[in-house]
Amino acid sequence: MSAEPLEIHLEEQDLDRALREDVRVGLTASPKWLPPKWFYDARGSELFEEITRLPEYYPTRAERAALAAHADDVAAMTGAKTLIELGSGSSEKTRLLLDAFTRQGGLGTFVPLDVSVSALRSSTERIAAAYPGLRVRGIVGDFTRHLDRLPTGGRRLVAFLGGTIGNLLPAERAGFLAATRAALEAGDWLLVGTDLVKDPGVVVPAYDDAAGVTAEFNRNVLRVVNRELGADFDVEAFRHVAVWDPEREWIEMRLRAERPTRVRVAALGLDVAFAAGEELRTEVSAKFRPAGIAAELAGAGFVRQAFWTDPDGLFGVSLARAD
Ligand code: SAH
Ligand code: TRP
Repeated sequence: MSAEPLEIHLEEQDLDRALREDVRVGLTASPKWLPPKWFYDARGSELFEEITRLPEYYPTRAERAALAAHADDVAAMTGAKTLIELGSGSSEKTRLLLDAFTRQGGLGTFVPLDVSVSALRSSTERIAAAYPGLRVRGIVGDFTRHLDRLPTGGRRLVAFLGGTIGNLLPAERAGFLAATRAALEAGDWLLVGTDLVKDPGVVVPAYDDAAGVTAEFNRNVLRVVNRELGADFDVEAFRHVAVWDPEREWIEMRLRAERPTRVRVAALGLDVAFAAGEELRTEVSAKFRPAGIAAELAGAGFVRQAFWTDPDGLFGVSLARAD
């Protein structure tokens, strides 16, 4: 079966409005910040795929190992008819789940949802070609806003992989889990991948690689603002910084102005100055402890039924049932 046409819950004009609002609020705040979803234009999505193949970036390999070992358990325990994937990107690791469901039989529909149209277009085509008989319905949407529009009917499994839940701030995370639970019925399932707390000597290089791919990815958000809002960020004036916050147990990504620089955002009529050394915060990537994840899930109305890691215990995958 070929993939169905993408279902668009985010029109160009919604994106434009949201980007304007985020840039206006973020660049006039102190400290300055920009939210992470704007990393993922076509180039950003490609750079992220490149990150997943870096020697320093262990999360993708570790999560893949955990899924490879337990995908059959996920299929057997959930008996899902519909698999919904949030922030699906390339859906590469998700194939392990689709393979397991194919062995078991019973899964009818795969629904990847992402803000990135380009990533979704290529993933839905490739998945539809590789899994004949599977209905593939891609949704262009925002998982912080559009969870009330997930498909209904039949036992559902929502997968949220890649540790992307760690890119939400704690309050956003609680809101996300509550909205996910509200979108599901008791007996539906959530599979969530979380990177685990470990030696910062292992974590930091994963977000500050020797080849500089993560730096390019981080700076890409400035290119997006330049292109979409007619801004004139001098991209090369900003250096990528990744700092481990031991209190909050998260990595914080920033862009540091190496020299005093100004930016004009034409679409907003906004002029912003950066002092030398001033930092713009772009992303956090929280790391989790097994008991903490279970507690957060429970707080949202999920009961964790399984927790698996890769053999090195780097990354955790939790399977939880809506109560
Ligand atoms: N799940 C994939 C990709 C992770 S990267 C993996 O495990 O490798 C994060 C993905 O989430 C990107 O594809 C990005 O486009 C998407 N994304 C980020 N913020 C989003 C949001 N608010 N709503 C929907 N998708 C989002
Ligand atoms: N979900 C990924 C993570 O937290 C996203 C990511 C990887 C990322 N590398 C990054 C986000 C660098 C911003 C900058 O691991």
